[in-house]
Amino acid sequence: MADRPKALVTAPFRGEGFDTLERLADVVYDPWIEQQPLRIYNSEQLAERIEAEGANVVVVESDSVKGPVLDVPLLAIGSCRGDPNNVDVAAATARGIPVLRAPGRNADAVAELTVALLFAVNRGVVRADRDVREGEIYRDGTIPYQRFRAWQLTGRTAGLVGLGAVGRATRWRLEGLGMRVIAHDPYSDDAIHTLDDLLAEADVVSMHAMVTQETQGMIGAEQFARMKDDAIFVNTARAMLHDTDALVGALESGRLAGAGLDHFEGEHLPIDHPLVGMPNVVLTPHIGGATYDTEANHSKLIADGLEQLLGGGKPDNLVNPEVLS
Ligand SMILES: NC(=O)c1ccc[n+]([C@@H]2O[C@H](COP(=O)([O-])OP(=O)(O)OC[C@H]3O[C@@H](n4cnc5c(N)ncnc54)[C@H](O)[C@@H]3O)[C@@H](O)[C@H]2O)c1
Repeated sequence: MADRPKALVTAPFRGEGFDTLERLADVVYDPWIEQQPLRIYNSEQLAERIEAEGANVVVVESDSVKGPVLDVPLLAIGSCRGDPNNVDVAAATARGIPVLRAPGRNADAVAELTVALLFAVNRGVVRADRDVREGEIYRDGTIPYQRFRAWQLTGRTAGLVGLGAVGRATRWRLEGLGMRVIAHDPYSDDAIHTLDDLLAEADVVSMHAMVTQETQGMIGAEQFARMKDDAIFVNTARAMLHDTDALVGALESGRLAGAGLDHFEGEHLPIDHPLVGMPNVVLTPHIGGATYDTEANHSKLIADGLEQLLGGGKPDNLVNPEVLS
């Protein structure tokens, strides 16, 4: 068919969404995730690639869709992210190009890692594993039961700060573990706790807010001081939500029982950082969303959105619906 679209896909794509896309368009599939060394296109490189392929649909995850890319006559842009911050949406809108996004694609993935970190911190899983591997089951003349007692999570209270896609996916999992779950989110009707009340009641404080001017640094020394003695702090959202020095202080003073963190400012934590030396802290390098299901979810969201667009519809995940009017 002469007017069959051609899609350049540099995002990882799989499952039902891939099948849908192949039904809708000729697909050039070259995902960044299979490239070594890492290949993230800047706008010039992406524009060049799109033109070389003769594509009129582009589906990306992290490549920059700005400047010259928007001079290419595109039918649609798919950004496989909840927040399509790699796309200059204003410029796309000015040129009448629809932009699709993939909200909630990684909510279950991040919620699962949140639970994993919580268990790992609370039961000392990483420390215990290390003792076994190092032949130190009887470290310092003790038996493991002397070193690894903990309170169970069942029956305790978890406080979720932010009740969006990840917060909600975390809530039912923690309730399933027998926890009482409370939440603070000024923009969510069923999150009824103030931040101060949540901090005072929660045995576990877990961060799930987006980073805004209002939320940046929202957990500082004062907020750590309001937490219960022996509370656990988990942040699988963004490090910018808490003051890292204040967290270190709260852990060093023994007020907090431990912390689980999946993100560091600048995506980096120096190996001589105080957190690295703390046995009651579990650190992961921003892997919350790293599941194959996340890829299948964003593939379906983008491909279904494209199918609706090509059929003259207005998909829910269209970022700039004004281009259709
Ligand atoms: N670790 C990872 O790999 C990973 C992956 C995806 C998302 N994230 C992060 O997880 C967080 C949640 O993502 P999401 O997809 O659920 O986003 P979302 O937009 O669905 O939810 C964010 C929530 O934050 C709430 N919020 C805004 N201001 C607030 C405030 N002052 N106090 C409390 N809550 C407030 C919003 O109302 C919204 O409900 C984000 O910070 C995101 O960057 C991390």
